Amino acid sequence: MLASKRILLIIGGGIAAYKSLDLIRRIKERGVTVTPVLTRAAEEFVTPLSVSALAGEKAYRDLFDLTDEAEMGHIQLSRSADLIVVAPTTADMLGKMAGGLANDLASTLLMATDTPVLCAPAMNVRMWEHPATQRNLEQLKEDGVRFVGPNEGDMACGEYGPGRMSEPSEVVAAIEAQLADGPLKGKRILVTSGPTHEPIDPVRYIANRSSGAQGTALARALSALGADVVFVTGPADVPPPDGVQVVCVETAQQMSDAVDAALPVDAGVFAAAVADWHVAGASDRKLKKSRDGLPSLAFAENPDILKRVSHMKQGRPALVVGFAAETNDVLENATAKRDRKGCDWIVANDVSPTTGIMGGSENAVVLISNSGVEEWPRMGKDAVADRLAQKIAVALAG
Ligand code: CTP
Repeated sequence: MLASKRILLIIGGGIAAYKSLDLIRRIKERGVTVTPVLTRAAEEFVTPLSVSALAGEKAYRDLFDLTDEAEMGHIQLSRSADLIVVAPTTADMLGKMAGGLANDLASTLLMATDTPVLCAPAMNVRMWEHPATQRNLEQLKEDGVRFVGPNEGDMACGEYGPGRMSEPSEVVAAIEAQLADGPLKGKRILVTSGPTHEPIDPVRYIANRSSGAQGTALARALSALGADVVFVTGPADVPPPDGVQVVCVETAQQMSDAVDAALPVDAGVFAAAVADWHVAGASDRKLKKSRDGLPSLAFAENPDILKRVSHMKQGRPALVVGFAAETNDVLENATAKRDRKGCDWIVANDVSPTTGIMGGSENAVVLISNSGVEEWPRMGKDAVADRLAQKIAVALAG
């Protein structure tokens, strides 16, 4: 399945670089071509000769090697692969990638590429936990970089904790997942998720009980089928999935703007619980108790993102999926909502408190499309997500 794929393997300068030799061997066993690139520091740990001998390919070493540029320019090198793997990814490399530096061959390749990137971090536990590393990690996840590891355990430096590079077998499994030709490969899908927060003043806001669990599960399931997912999320309780492009927003207006910026997409899945109104003229100072009695809030309507996208004359996604959170007459309300919004499918659920669905781990949905109504049994939100992702794959293939 993986034969004829190509990997560009960037080896960073850390003690875990020794694992890259075993990694090359295991990748090659699967029929995948590995083109190795060593940073200067990596050469302190493994030699270009051993790397190149195992890979059966030239080991690229330095940006300013004119022979390399004559053979294959760095831009071409960065794009000729199906996946770039950075193993080990050092703290320094994470910093360069997050900051957009391009001052050696490895960092320039990473800046010039349009190929998915998988990082296997390895560093001292304190370096891993340092706020700068964690910030860089968040940024790179937002940029769509995928990660495998690090693992927790004894470290070469004598300390214990997270920071050990994943074992070659784990990196290979992550590579296989990335290279697998899922049915949604090449499809770009937008998912909105979570609640929105609408400010009343700088310290207070209006929100809802959405945890973001269903939208997050969906983004993960779509990505697992190979989709390139843009995940626009309000302030959710659950962390965003790995390997998707994450756009964090707070208000409905920000969500609407982020959706516009993400278009065009092949499918849009609108799982967010968007506030229908915002407080008109929200105060930029904290509202104080006053002797004149209770404050009164005036509301203004938020953009209806789903409706707007569904009615787009140009650039409408081929498939638009909305959600309907109802507390009564689910089927009737959701059917009317589908017509009103103009979306292709509505995934309806009963969110009345007795169901425990909003904020819970299970969901019982009814899928309404122009081919009819499907009632799904109550199941975990992950299972709902998998089933819906499969259906989306079938619809986009058709
Ligand atoms: N939605 C949206 N933008 C809004 C409101 C809702 O994109 N401003 C989307 C939601 O993401 C969901 C669908 O519309 O996919 C239905 O959301 P819901 O809150 O159930 O519908 P409302 O239009 O708010 O209808 P009502 O509150 O009257 O039930």
